[in-house]
Amino acid sequence: MPRMPVEAPIETNNTTLYEAVAARIEQLIEAGTLRPGDRIPSVRRLHAQLSVSMSTVMEAYRLLEDRGRIRARPQSGYYVQAAARPLLAEPKASRPGKRPHRIQVSQLAYELNQKISSPEVIRLGAAAPGLEHLPLKAINRLMGQVLRWHPQQAHDYAMPPGRKELRAEIAKRMMDVGCSVGPDDILITTGATEAFYLCLRAITKAGDTIAVESPTYFGILETLETLQLRAREIATHPRDGIDLADLEAAFRADKIKALVLVSNFSNPLGTLMPDDKKHRLTELLTRFDAHLVEDDVYGDLPFDGHRPKAVKAFDRRDRVLYCNSFSKTISPGLRIGWCVPGIHMDDVGRLKLATTHASATPPQLAVAAFLANGSYERHLRRICRHYREQVERMHSTVAECFPAGTQVTRPAGGHVLWIELPKGTDTLDLYERASEQNISFAPGPLFSSSGKYRNCLRLNCGLPWSPQIEQAVRRLGELAGAG
Ligand SMILES: Cc1ncc(COP(=O)(O)O)c(C=O)c1O
Repeated sequence: MPRMPVEAPIETNNTTLYEAVAARIEQLIEAGTLRPGDRIPSVRRLHAQLSVSMSTVMEAYRLLEDRGRIRARPQSGYYVQAAARPLLAEPKASRPGKRPHRIQVSQLAYELNQKISSPEVIRLGAAAPGLEHLPLKAINRLMGQVLRWHPQQAHDYAMPPGRKELRAEIAKRMMDVGCSVGPDDILITTGATEAFYLCLRAITKAGDTIAVESPTYFGILETLETLQLRAREIATHPRDGIDLADLEAAFRADKIKALVLVSNFSNPLGTLMPDDKKHRLTELLTRFDAHLVEDDVYGDLPFDGHRPKAVKAFDRRDRVLYCNSFSKTISPGLRIGWCVPGIHMDDVGRLKLATTHASATPPQLAVAAFLANGSYERHLRRICRHYREQVERMHSTVAECFPAGTQVTRPAGGHVLWIELPKGTDTLDLYERASEQNISFAPGPLFSSSGKYRNCLRLNCGLPWSPQIEQAVRRLGELAGAG
């Protein structure tokens, strides 16, 4: 790479000025001009050298911090970070069978859920964010305020589509996802789980076949099971998601009514579909007269500061029913989710009314007030940094203490890792042995409609790293090796 003086004029080439400044520093790191541990120019110095404002330099440095390229040291300045080494090999693309299956995962999911309710259990299983990372003080304060501001209305039903204040704030945020929608296009739900349940119910009938990623989030499989739908698993690569050729083959072989997927930093693989693939997916949906129920609950959690677009952003023919929630970013307990069901709005609204009537009003008002006060972006930046570090620490600990041949995903966002143990390992048996030592994780067969992934497991990296967590991961590695 050619060496470039730091003070060469900045060219923006379709990017913002701060991104161009960040790119300049990254070029210097790539070229070895700035090495790991080196101090980079101070904000004031770069401001003078490049003739850009101090706030532009600050924004650029914040972006580089988010990307893990530099780290601030208090009272000292910014330093180049050592590149995170990929430690273990990445699992290969999955190769599920080609037949649709009836689903039976809810019993296993329920049993495992019962087991982790004890407070002594180190919960590496549930994909829950660490409560320590969430803006709970601000939300608790706002809950009190909204009850004082709306002493009566806060106790009234917030009939579908839900409170307008919240829908207006969500509509603004949907621009970051690449979707231009208004408050009336949004329906508030009780978490993303209710959002995809209602959307699927609106567009399917019992016995229909639905395409899913393989492996896929077991909550999606549980919903398919409840609705008596069958699943056709689609081959999925841990980096860029479902194999569109396999999806097309499935469309040709069976009448597939819809596809359900987690498009950004998926659970459990952490996949991120590139934009061109999202675009091609919408074309396939149109060609085969199918719908997509898109779950985007991890989209606000990128490690590099770039919020990816939704598939919905490429949807010109109203094929995508978009679902999301604040469970991974603000509070899972408030149960605030939403969907953008497009032309199916009336059907989904009618089903919402018929099933739960309305979602609770005070949390809708509190989240609306939190989004309106403008601190959500700063909060996201902070938690993404935590998740990135926790994912890296989990990866390196697994690399140290799991059996030889273990493979691990390398997500670019979110907070879960998918681990493929050597063939022959039985993670259901490992689960029993780990439970005896108060350690939980999510065993692989939960993520498949056909009982696949017996040698796999998912670990949650959402909790703050601690000696207890590290010890639990090490113990799990020993148990896996002894199995
Ligand atoms: C992909 C995915 N979708 C949805 C959910 C649940 O979302 P909510 O709590 O908003 O219902 C989870 C939780 O683990 C998840 O991983």
